[in-house]
Amino acid sequence: MSDDIIVRRHQQVMEIAFNRPDKKNALTTGMYEAIVAAMDEAREDPQLRVVVFSGTAECFTSGNDVGDFMNNPPVDENSPVIRFLQVLATFPKILVAAVNGPAVGVGTTMLLHCDLVYAGDNARFQMPFVNLALVPEAGSSLLLPQLCGHRRAAELLLLGEAFDSDKAHEIGLINEICASQATRERALERAAQIATRAPEAVRLTKALLVAGRSQPLLERMAEEGRHFGERLQSPEAREAFTAFFEKREPDFSRFE
Ligand code: COA
Repeated sequence: MSDDIIVRRHQQVMEIAFNRPDKKNALTTGMYEAIVAAMDEAREDPQLRVVVFSGTAECFTSGNDVGDFMNNPPVDENSPVIRFLQVLATFPKILVAAVNGPAVGVGTTMLLHCDLVYAGDNARFQMPFVNLALVPEAGSSLLLPQLCGHRRAAELLLLGEAFDSDKAHEIGLINEICASQATRERALERAAQIATRAPEAVRLTKALLVAGRSQPLLERMAEEGRHFGERLQSPEAREAFTAFFEKREPDFSRFE
């Protein structure tokens, strides 16, 4: 278990909070394990109806820990990050997110799997996979163009630039923009409202909303995973990760 993940129960709502502020809540193997354990518990517990992901007041998550990418890359389907993505993509209960500050990499792509997303006016979203010589993950190569069309998805994934809550709202990634100090409360409030609704009706509604999506999504995630694993070992990615820790821009000019 990881102390960097805080699990709180608010009646029928489980909150899973990223809490590694000195590293901008970068997600490690241990943190993914703790998240999966909490989600397994939430899925099995009939009392729990909604899961809310949150971070700290200043940061949602800077995505996968770049050091883990270098030194502890996912090896197979049982790797904690892969398990997390699979649980996320197939979770039968309602998923809500409260995003403040940076939501980078999986911090943004996990939102594509959430049913409701509330973001602070300080939120900054980014999918810098190509910048790190990687490819999209979490099914984002499928879900993002479905959400906002090929052109906008291509721009976000190929250039990997950060974007704000206004743009996230415009492309349909988030439901509502909140004052940053109110984001978490708003997400918990909406989660609590859903928890008062008829549980079987809620379950069926979510199942209908995602009906037909599961199989192509899991296939795409497997395909992304194969490329991602290969990319992690590539000289291009090594250059990108080294540049990150040396706090400089990567130089891809020597690659063909
Ligand atoms: N993995 C590992 N360490 C990370 C990290 C990550 N994903 N994100 C941030 N950190 C570390 C930094 O290395 C730094 O550590 P240090 O204090 O030991 O030097 C610390 O967290 C603070 O980060 P810093 O970059 O100084 O904060 P910032 O406020 O200037 O910027 C971010 C915040 C999130 C925009 C920036 O850290 C960032 O872009 N991180 C990388 C995100 C990324 O590429 N994730 C992978 C996506 S696939």
